Order: sequence, then C-alpha cells, then structure tokens
Amino acid sequence: MELTEEQKDMLEGKNGNAVKKSMSILVALGEIYGAKGLIPVTSVQISGVSYDNLGDAGLEFLDEMAKDGKIRVKTTLNPAGMDMENWEALGIDPEFARKQKLVIEAFEKMGVEATCTCTPYFIGNKPDFGDHIAWGESSAVTYANSVLGAKTNKEGGPSSIASALTGFTAEYGLHLDENRQAHFVAEVKAKVDNPMLFGALGNVIGRIAKGRIPLITGIKKATTEDLKGLSASIVTYGGAPMFHIEGITPNKTSVPEERVVVDKEDIDNAVKGMNDAEDAEFIFIGCPHCSIEELKKISELLDGKIVKKELWIGVARPIKKIADKRGYSKIIEVSGAKLACDTCHVVAPLKGRFHSIATNSAKGIFYGRGKNNFKTIFRTMEDCIKLAVGE
Ligand code: F3S
Repeated sequence: MELTEEQKDMLEGKNGNAVKKSMSILVALGEIYGAKGLIPVTSVQISGVSYDNLGDAGLEFLDEMAKDGKIRVKTTLNPAGMDMENWEALGIDPEFARKQKLVIEAFEKMGVEATCTCTPYFIGNKPDFGDHIAWGESSAVTYANSVLGAKTNKEGGPSSIASALTGFTAEYGLHLDENRQAHFVAEVKAKVDNPMLFGALGNVIGRIAKGRIPLITGIKKATTEDLKGLSASIVTYGGAPMFHIEGITPNKTSVPEERVVVDKEDIDNAVKGMNDAEDAEFIFIGCPHCSIEELKKISELLDGKIVKKELWIGVARPIKKIADKRGYSKIIEVSGAKLACDTCHVVAPLKGRFHSIATNSAKGIFYGRGKNNFKTIFRTMEDCIKLAVGE
C-alpha cells in the first residue's frame, strides 16, 4: 500500500504511540482488503462504546490509546450501556456504571464529543454528499451511505478509533464508486408508510440481498424516520450497508437486470415472523434513536396518560434538550415513561431483567431476541404506546 510522508511518519511513531498503533491498524486493514492507500475522512462515529460489549480488555485498550491519542476530525460515539446522567432511574448496577464512566472518560481524554447516539446525523455529525467518513454503527453507516450519500465501510471499534486519531481510513469497499452500484432491483408492490413497515421491508429485502446492494423501486414517499428504520433493518437482516431508492436517495447507480418483487404477503409474513409474544414487560421506542418529530408524537400519544409497563424512549441527549425546551420531555416523564439518553435496549445490560419486549424497530426485534433472549412484539409506535398505557 502506498503511504504519504505524513502517513509514514505516523506509522513510525513520530506522532506518538496511539497514532502509531492506529496507523498500523489501518495499514493492516488496507492490506487485507487490497486498498491502494489511505484517504482522509471528515467525520468519525465510534462503535463499541458499551462496557457490556467492551469488558475490561476493551477498557484497557482505550486507556492505552487515551495516553497520548487526540482526535483529528469530528468524532461522536455510539450508544453506551447506560444513560450517563440518569442511569440509576434505568436500574443500572453501580459497578457497571463505574466502568461505563471510565470508558467515556477515556474517550473524552482523546477529545471525543461524548454524545452517545446511533443517529449522529441528528446532532451535528452530518457529513455532506460524497464525503469519506469512518462510521461504526450499522444503521448509521447504512443511512450515511444511502440517504446522505457519504461513503463509509462499517468500521469496528478499533478501526474507527484509528481513523479518529489519524484522520484517515483505508480506501476500499464502499469508498470506491464501483462498489456502490446496485446488484438487483427490488420492486415494492405493497403499501409501506411508517417506520415499522419500512423496517419490515428491510427485513424482506435484507434477507434477499445477502450482502448485496438493492435498487428499491415502487416507493413514492419516505420520511427521515422511515429511512432511518429501513437503514437499521436492511443491514441487520443481511443486506450490505447501502441501498438505493429510485427517486428518493441521492446516489447514482447502474440498473441491474436481476429483479425481485416484494408484495404485501412478503411484508405481512415478515411482520408475523417478528411477533412471538402475547404481551410485553418492556417497551422500547427509538431504535435508531428518536428524532425530535418522533418525541413530539410520543408526547402527544402519552399526554394525560400513565404508563403501566416499563417504557424507554431512546434518544440522543442534544435532542432531549430540544424536547425539554419544547415541553415534550415533561409530558413524557409525567406519564412515567423514561427518556433513555446515550443508550438503548440492546447495548444496556438487560439480559434476564425482562423476558419480552414490544418495539416498532425490526432491528430492535433481531437483537432483542439474539442478545437478550426476549420474546417480541413488533407493532407501530402508536400501538406500542397503547400497550404501554394498557389500552
Ligand atoms: Fe441504535 Fe441501539 Fe438500535 S444502537 S440502532 S438503538 S440497537
């Protein structure tokens, strides 16, 4: 792989140990994937932030990198294992909280903005079309590639940190235009008009895609929240972290010959397959983290009601602050629902605490089952809230 003088200096340790280690991670990855060189990135989103996933070995690695590592580009974090301010209200164990705080402190020492969210594009970490970036969380990566038209592979924790500390990533995979072309057309012949149904669509197309990129046709309209739900689902159920929607997403693609039809029966079957519980002990909305419009809607649905089940709303802290100012948070909190900043039902240590979940997120269903052994109910946001208030 060809390196510039600046990159060679980094690799030789002229910019300190953390940069040296970072450069060796990037060069190793580049060589594995046949990259010609390293390219600058404008933004990083680091995954692998929850102590539940990192453990002590991960924390040690971060401490090592934080000794002399400083970020060189805008960098935010994926959700952590708890709300960093309000963890006690979410029932988090104090020892877990102590370790999670050490993780965040290590990132802060590197200069990382300690906002933990899978929707960095809602809080100012929003790349422009064509930007090369190094993001980690799969839904955010898919949204960035497909909806924003930025270019990123799905980075792991160490490689995203390496990009943050050097400002570079290896040029392979979805950084190259030839790898961003659609492989098949998915013609949608079903009504898909809310984030839950877009999640079901992602389930169907992801399983057909098996790592390939679809060009989706037949969708006339999609909101930001719909595209967020589709991004999370399609990659979770087997697609590449990229899709095209004719007339909606901004990337250009050649039109492949292979064609599949997705009809109402496919969507209904996907929805059916994601439901295997009669009732839910725990309800989670905000996978990926909620937009301010979603918080507005949730506050309207909860206004004057009291929840009878544990209901968490996942959201980035800066979005919650906007909701505080607009009065949405108060209505939500008076109902007994909990605004869970910085975290979510998948990265928080919830195994064994609940046995069933209701959510409007197809990704949330997949990991709720896989990580936490939950039985699942997959419904619209409105129906999940009804379940929470006992209607
Ligand atoms: Fe985000 Fe957690 Fe879902 S990281 S996409 S809320 S599983």
